[in-house]
Amino acid sequence: MNRREFARTVAVLGVGSAFSSAVFARDKKHKPVATPADIGLETQMPFTGADSLRVHGATVGLPVGCAVVPERVDLSGEQAGGSGDLYTRTVKEQAAIVVAENAMKWSSLRPSIDTYDFAATDKLFACAQQFSQLVRGHNLCWHEQLPKWFATTATRQNARILLTDHIQTVAGRYAGRVHSWDVVNEAVHIPDGRPDCLRKSPWLELLGPGYIEQAFQSAAKADPQARLTYNDYDIELDTAEQVAKRGQVLMLIRRLHARGVPIHAVGIQSHLQANGPQPGAGLVQFIRDVAALGLEVYITELDVNTHSLEGGPDVQDQAVAAVYKGYLSLVLPEPNVKAVLTWGISDAHTWLNESKQPWALRPDGARQRPLPFNDNYAPAPAFYAMRNAFDYSRMPVVPNDITAPPPSQQPAGDPYAPFTVPGSPGAPQSPPHSI
Ligand code: XIL
Repeated sequence: MNRREFARTVAVLGVGSAFSSAVFARDKKHKPVATPADIGLETQMPFTGADSLRVHGATVGLPVGCAVVPERVDLSGEQAGGSGDLYTRTVKEQAAIVVAENAMKWSSLRPSIDTYDFAATDKLFACAQQFSQLVRGHNLCWHEQLPKWFATTATRQNARILLTDHIQTVAGRYAGRVHSWDVVNEAVHIPDGRPDCLRKSPWLELLGPGYIEQAFQSAAKADPQARLTYNDYDIELDTAEQVAKRGQVLMLIRRLHARGVPIHAVGIQSHLQANGPQPGAGLVQFIRDVAALGLEVYITELDVNTHSLEGGPDVQDQAVAAVYKGYLSLVLPEPNVKAVLTWGISDAHTWLNESKQPWALRPDGARQRPLPFNDNYAPAPAFYAMRNAFDYSRMPVVPNDITAPPPSQQPAGDPYAPFTVPGSPGAPQSPPHSI
């Protein structure tokens, strides 16, 4: 499909979506009977195909997706004509871009110092191909989820070769097929007390601060096409702690950029909290500071934690949706924000329901509801909050071959005023037989 056909398809699908939603609330005589919200059926509104997150994202040129567990995907069912598995169907329908939640980490890929296990990651790429999805790589260098043998085997003598070989082998294997690589993850940690504010990670202890630059150089060599990303957390808020960390992350990126290190993007993890302070002006300024360096920004691990929010499922859902709405409408107007991924797709499988850490457990013992789909794979209020944010916070994609009319031909009036979609129930009727 060429660009023009794609734009047309998206436009047609968009009309279909407006039409089906409107029809839902009308009886046979075309009188509105109730809104879906009135009768509590919001979750039965269409949410797949033209109504999915991936198509709404595509309409505004934004790859939208999620972290996946490749082992859970029913690839053989899909290849045999279509899987009935809800996880598989939801990932397929909703995601235009995927990232492995754990499968690409050292602990998954490296059973021993001289072996690699690519079973899960090869499957991830096969699934992505089957579902026409982009793939993010996560991650090549991190202080966590290192294999057990690492602590006893890695030394100052072999650490450089261990790191560069790993990057060459892993990024090299999938070269040309990766949208972006999280080359270094979470390297800034002010409480460790270093003047450069870098984390005292095993990599830093073994190699010194140059390990970051080394990792980016190796990744650029192994996969010249992937956008090389620095990814970090707790840089979203305007609290004193996060303002300080965000400043240090910016300094790190500026240092790397100034030294000519191949870095193309910053990942903002975006593990947000339902209550307490929310992201604001400081984050927007950070995104613009990153843009000034010519770098993209990806929202890499979005979810909303309700561990300290009192109230039942509805209270959680509304609070979570409000955070999605506030956050996405804050960051999406920034044109260098180029991808949005949630950390999982359904509450049925999220680290916040799998972890036993105090920051994940609710005092009432209830499950968390951090993702766009609930435990039963029905869209949650967060799904609609995301979709609306894509619709309203970004400019639709305009195909190259359609030029804007000169100013004198532009219609007068408010360009942002609501307008009816031709063919939708509220639109003026076309004369009979006209096309
Ligand atoms: C988490 C996974 O979701 C868990 O399953 C695993 O046990 C621990 O790691 N920041 C990151 C991710 O960069 O890799 C982490 O993923 C979540 C925090």
